[in-house]
Amino acid sequence: MDIENIKKDFPILENRKITYLDNGATTQKPIQVIKSIEEFYKKYNSNPHRGAYSLSIETTEEYENTRNKIAKFINAKQSQEIVFSKNATESLNLIAYSYGMENLKKDDEVVISIMEHHSNLVPWQKVVKLTSSKLNYMYMNDQFELSDEEIESKITDKTKIVGITHVSNVLGTINNIKRIIKYAHKKGAIVIVDASQSIPHMPIDVQDLDCDFLVFSGHKMLAPLGIGVLYGKKEILNKMTPFLMGGDMIEYVYEQETRFAPLPNKFEAGTQNVEAVIGLGAAIDYINNIGYDKIQEIENNIVQYAIAELSKLNYLDLYLTPNKENHSAVISFNIKGVHPHDVATILDTEGICIRSGNHCAQPLMRYLGIDSTCRASFYIYNTKNDVDKLVNALNKAYTMFKKYIVK
Ligand code: ALA
Repeated sequence: MDIENIKKDFPILENRKITYLDNGATTQKPIQVIKSIEEFYKKYNSNPHRGAYSLSIETTEEYENTRNKIAKFINAKQSQEIVFSKNATESLNLIAYSYGMENLKKDDEVVISIMEHHSNLVPWQKVVKLTSSKLNYMYMNDQFELSDEEIESKITDKTKIVGITHVSNVLGTINNIKRIIKYAHKKGAIVIVDASQSIPHMPIDVQDLDCDFLVFSGHKMLAPLGIGVLYGKKEILNKMTPFLMGGDMIEYVYEQETRFAPLPNKFEAGTQNVEAVIGLGAAIDYINNIGYDKIQEIENNIVQYAIAELSKLNYLDLYLTPNKENHSAVISFNIKGVHPHDVATILDTEGICIRSGNHCAQPLMRYLGIDSTCRASFYIYNTKNDVDKLVNALNKAYTMFKKYIVK
């Protein structure tokens, strides 16, 4: 692989002449992933697990190969611990409605952080109401980090479930999830890790972390939209009741009773997004070919350069931890006194794609005392030149808006 020319693997970046800085929302797809999907439809499209003919057997093999690949990629003990879903959101809903509903009792506590994406927050609001349990928050300090004191004061003997994002999609803070998991286990709670914003950027080892569940979306790590992963420890998944019922998740169905299929099929009701599973397999191959060491080297260079350049713009507010080692590839900022949507619209006229808004994290925004931010998020195909374009476009936006800014 030609590391220097990664951008060339991404047709959209060649075709559209854009500076794509919204990788936290979704990444672009390399030609290798696009071709894997084309090959699936041209050569072996069929429904896995359902046909005795060779085409269906081939699809089953490719589908299960990806499961094995994911198990290896995150160091799960076995591939049965890997369940395919639509996205991280669906994986989190599955845990909340199945594990949460079955295990939470009156006055038990669920602890999450104020940095959570709505997907690891709204389902818990519903489930704690239905089970008369409580939802508590770990708040961050002024360095946008969760302190040990905060972790230890919020996770108590009453805590049964801890939900924590590995990396904040707004602040880029890398949470010390190993520390949280260890402490939660000491208190008898299970831990769910949302790895959506971390797995594209850093290696994940579920056995080393000892997390009970871990979820992520494929589309933020070069794979197609519409495919997510749920990892769960086998002994926990085995005890859970499926969240969705229907075809392929059963062993026997009688008129009044059903015996569910063994793992992982019991959590995969209905025909799955097979093309996206195959695309996810190709995305993992692509990431493995580059290697996380190289990915981190590329990203650190860009992100540190971006932080340094954006810090020079005194008209910006930046929302990030000063501790470089605890920060990932997301930078949120505002032009003081200018709405982020206005900034993003001006940047768009320069071909620069950033996200603006509350980033599906309204409680975090309220905690920060703001409505919304601009967010630039980087990935392996970004270059220092992309950062320079961002800075130039921000200067242009500031020049345009400064006469309207109320001080
Ligand atoms: N969760 C995605 C983001 O942060 C969509 O942009």
